[in-house]
Amino acid sequence: MKGIILAGGTGTRLYPITEGISKQLMPIYDKPMIYYPLSTLMSAGIRDILVITTPHDQENFKRLLKSGEDFGINISYAIQDSPRGLADAFIVGEDFIDGDSCCMILGDNIFYGNDFTKMLNEARINTQNGYATIFGYQVKDPERFGIMELDKEKNVISIEEKPEKPKSKFAVTGIYFYPEKVSEYAKKVKPSQRGEIEITTLNDMYLKENKLKASLLGSGFTWYDTGTFESELDAALMIRSIQNNKDKIVCCPEEIAYVNKWIDKNTLTKRAELMKKNAYGKYLYKIIEEDN
Ligand code: TTP
Repeated sequence: MKGIILAGGTGTRLYPITEGISKQLMPIYDKPMIYYPLSTLMSAGIRDILVITTPHDQENFKRLLKSGEDFGINISYAIQDSPRGLADAFIVGEDFIDGDSCCMILGDNIFYGNDFTKMLNEARINTQNGYATIFGYQVKDPERFGIMELDKEKNVISIEEKPEKPKSKFAVTGIYFYPEKVSEYAKKVKPSQRGEIEITTLNDMYLKENKLKASLLGSGFTWYDTGTFESELDAALMIRSIQNNKDKIVCCPEEIAYVNKWIDKNTLTKRAELMKKNAYGKYLYKIIEEDN
């Protein structure tokens, strides 16, 4: 399975900051925003990852993430010339996906909660059986999101983009799993009134073929779309609080890579050395010591 992080866009809600820096390179407490979706893909066992950016930001992403070798993964890069919509990721990424199944995550989405790795694995298995999977999360302002209508068995009946009269409070979050040939589906999506190749239209195609499953994230789960000043600060404070309470770093790609045996002790030590002046580096040293 291939993974895509969609990290383009204009970030206009974060102006003036995003006049000078890509949103997904901004910090969420102690690490760049893109580390969070990257860690999520790695937790799903995905090692071939495409990072899609704007033309002018690509260099900065390359400087940060390089080839992925620090994390034992292969990172490729592609450019989206203009923000044509979320489903455009599968058109920009067509050669990279190469007919494989694919998980796409938005570069500004943070997921944290129990059993998430298990849910990601289930979604992965669904793709092998020809099903797409989307993830729902209950929100208090459903008018702002793509909203799922669900039957009693929690099957999706419809998805509406920013509905005036929402049929549920379950928003479609920014992680999506698709079986083989998603690029062929994406190429059939006609641009919407706002001129975007909408992910909702793509999901609708799978729904109409009875090939769409929804996985619902429970109330103990945390999901942030960090596209505004408020959500960015809320997310940063939450990450700090969890990390302080649990003495654990949330979404640490080096740790995921080491536990999965994708990197060896030498690589992890180099990363620890680089960050030895802060808690992140000390945490990496602790992982090495505890493994001795
Ligand atoms: P949005 O938050 O919807 O858009 P944006 O990041 O441009 O921000 P704003 O609304 O403040 O102008 O995008 C969600 C994520 O998807 C974000 O990580 C950017 C990314 N994205 C792309 O990479 N390409 C696109 O065509 C779109 C629409 C979004």
